[in-house]
Amino acid sequence: MTPNAEKPAAARPDDLPPELARALPGKFVVFEGPDGSGKSTQLARFVRACQHAGVPPVEVREPGGTEVGERIRRALLDHLDREEMALRCEMLLYMASRAQLVEQTIRPSLTANKFVLADRFVSSTLAYQGAGGGLPEDQILDAARIATGNLEPDAVVIFDVDERTAAQRLNPLLRGDNLDRMESKGAEFQRRVRQGYLDQIARWPDTHLCVDGSQDEDAVFSDLIATLVGALA
Ligand code: TMP
Repeated sequence: MTPNAEKPAAARPDDLPPELARALPGKFVVFEGPDGSGKSTQLARFVRACQHAGVPPVEVREPGGTEVGERIRRALLDHLDREEMALRCEMLLYMASRAQLVEQTIRPSLTANKFVLADRFVSSTLAYQGAGGGLPEDQILDAARIATGNLEPDAVVIFDVDERTAAQRLNPLLRGDNLDRMESKGAEFQRRVRQGYLDQIARWPDTHLCVDGSQDEDAVFSDLIATLVGALA
């Protein structure tokens, strides 16, 4: 038997516009969006395109991304929790994971003129613990300044998706034991999270960029590239 015979051929990586590839070194870009927005699919495709263009990103994910951060991630998402976690504790754990990630990976990489691509950052805390959970925005922003030492992304791409599409995409995950603590919070929570993201786009239009994530994958990717060219190149 030929071991590779049944594997589908890997899709060719997308080409990045050269002006975007030239703009990425030294930049800090964050991908954001509600659960079911397609963020992870787009992130994987964008990473391949960057690698193909000779600008391999330093990829970081939140919560986690460092050894300490992965431990914090498990504490946050573990659905065997015996007691409800206090909202301020939750927010500060996200920030603690972020502080470690900034110090250990993000800042040194930017200093070395590398391109840093983050799967979630402060915008997630504003959307989930702020708009979703009800924690005051100024408290989150104060904690974020401490955690990040005032580091701000050059661009935050927010994949916006209507709640119905998001719920349909999440449906297979939402069966059985696959619920994680965040995804189990329900439709009303997800609606507030989405609105939290839309409010950020309205408030910081120069850096917080909206991509319509409810389209098909290729259309979302084209929009993503056009948006980044507009913002960075
Ligand atoms: P993900 O790895 O699928 O993106 O999921 C991470 C989950 O953690 C997601 O439901 C959003 C949540 N989260 C927050 O609630 N606050 C935060 O600050 C971050 C970074 C993530």
